[in-house]
Amino acid sequence: MDNKEKALKHFKERSRSYDRSSRWVSDAELLGNIFSLTEIAEGETLLDLATGTGLVARCFRGKAKEVIGLDISTDMTRSASAHVDRMILSPMEAIPLDSGSIDACVCRQGLQFSNLPKALAEVARVLKPGGRAVFCHLNAYGPEDRADAFKIQALRNPARVNFFMPGDLEAALEASGLSVTRNVRHLSRESVNTWIGHGANRPEEREAIRDAYRASSPEFKRLHRVETTEDDIFDTMLFLLIRAEKKG
Ligand SMILES: C[S@@+](CC[C@H](N)C(=O)[O-])C[C@H]1O[C@@H](n2cnc3c(N)ncnc32)[C@H](O)[C@@H]1O
Repeated sequence: MDNKEKALKHFKERSRSYDRSSRWVSDAELLGNIFSLTEIAEGETLLDLATGTGLVARCFRGKAKEVIGLDISTDMTRSASAHVDRMILSPMEAIPLDSGSIDACVCRQGLQFSNLPKALAEVARVLKPGGRAVFCHLNAYGPEDRADAFKIQALRNPARVNFFMPGDLEAALEASGLSVTRNVRHLSRESVNTWIGHGANRPEEREAIRDAYRASSPEFKRLHRVETTEDDIFDTMLFLLIRAEKKG
């Protein structure tokens, strides 16, 4: 199975419960931060990459001239179509839009499944000079927790190919010709049972994730403020919101 097939399988199984599959997916503060960092203006065109069920795209509906969603999964985008002006079924590594046609691009929790240099080159290509891109992705805090964080992320979703630490995405953006202008931290306290109860992990896979939390290093437990209760585990996850601009 190639990576696109893995992602399609994972998100087919997860699509029905996606909007309840963690706290961060519908967190109004996180969505509000993405919206304000984008500084969308009436008359502009917004592209939401890996739009999924459209939770990010719907924040922009009516606030821009056109909101375009792009994703590979018909299962995920079924409910998103009501929240965008146009839906494109395509991988983000080959965006079927003209060069220099988009004012602003957003992408929350999508780049981890992509061929990163190809996806970012496409973002840089479709943006107008001076256009903005806002990315929001889960990160390890740093070298102390990266091994456990990346192991847990891989167990939760086998389609994930990119694992981020602070600085990684910024470097990739700069290499793609985009200038990083803002970087905002967002912490999300998550119930692990909710986070792994999304319908795409089998019971033994969920148990392997709980085991990985129990066996994680003291540094991981401290940074993530891991709390184990009788029937759940809580993890404070780090999301980084990065705004970049296409050099004018
Ligand atoms: C975790 S969901 C994020 C959905 C939405 N952005 C949000 O924040 O709620 C990841 C989405 O990425 C899509 N996806 C995975 N690989 C992709 C690719 N190469 N190109 C476009 N979309 C992709 C999946 O189908 C899925 O809908």
